[in-house]
Amino acid sequence: MTLSTLRQTAKAMVEPGQGILAMDESTPTVGKRLKAVGVDNSEDNRVAYRTILLGTPGLGDYISGAILYDETIRQSTTDGEPFPALMQRQGIMPGIKVDTGAKDLALSGGEKVTEGLDGLRDRLAEYVGFGAKFCKWRAVIAIDEEKPSRACLEANAHALARYAALCQEAGLVPIVEPEVLINGAHTIETSYDVTVETQRQVFEQLYRQGVHFEGMILKPSMVISGTDCPQRAGVEQVAEQTLRCLQQTVPSAVPGIAFLSGGQSDEEATQHLSTMNQMARELSLPWQLTFSYARALQNQVLETWRGDAAKAEQASQALLHRAKLNALASRGEYTPDMERAAA
Ligand code: 13P
Repeated sequence: MTLSTLRQTAKAMVEPGQGILAMDESTPTVGKRLKAVGVDNSEDNRVAYRTILLGTPGLGDYISGAILYDETIRQSTTDGEPFPALMQRQGIMPGIKVDTGAKDLALSGGEKVTEGLDGLRDRLAEYVGFGAKFCKWRAVIAIDEEKPSRACLEANAHALARYAALCQEAGLVPIVEPEVLINGAHTIETSYDVTVETQRQVFEQLYRQGVHFEGMILKPSMVISGTDCPQRAGVEQVAEQTLRCLQQTVPSAVPGIAFLSGGQSDEEATQHLSTMNQMARELSLPWQLTFSYARALQNQVLETWRGDAAKAEQASQALLHRAKLNALASRGEYTPDMERAAA
């Protein structure tokens, strides 16, 4: 592993006008998404759906990399082409989710800690063999009157840092994803305080484990009001508070920040990103700000497809349109009237 390879990969992941497609849903999670549109969670259906996503003509114009789930990196498309080969043709770098999920944190009253460190070095070596260039690990932090606890923040930050160090040792860029959940009645001020504290812990642990900031990508949640908050903050406030939070916590050596959508609507997620990039021009921020959305890129694709092969092309167009709008947002060039324009 050389630092310059990590640096190059990280930079390419967040190239201006490009973002990351998260399509690393575990089998039970993709099952929930498929069920919502009346499709069975069979292997054939998962392959068909993921063939639509990655086979979308021109997707590489807006998407630098896609995060896969373990089964996908081993599978082939409906036409029998291995997914990593299709991605190479499309100019999309393969990434892989390597955590094994958020499990109950002992003695904590329902908080979660993400697992997956055991045997990770060997799994990473296998993923390198499949052509993976980067990885993802997601920690989840819930907010309520009692949460998050210091135990939860520290345990998750430590695991993220150990994961990130193992990735870099293997020549893979770690996407470090501490997600502060949107669920709850909390205000944007509480979201700000919790997100600052979460990211402080994460960068402290990354530093302690010797992780090279130049060779990683941060994937944070935005600073945003809880879904049940009676007075939800508007677009400008979300953008301002998110940038203020990042300025307090993220070292300038980190090349890029790729947000998750976290349950925001497709339009909201795009608008927030574009507004942040407009504000960033005045602030001369050191990092690229882009997207690594799952739901906010895939919602319309699933709605359009609904398991019908005759709708596959239309579903691909829906993905291309959404990816294009988010690519424009990564340059601060999105306007809501573009929603109506044809892909
Ligand atoms: P959402 O954009 O749907 O929040 O998903 C991002 C992700 O990768 C979750 O780990």
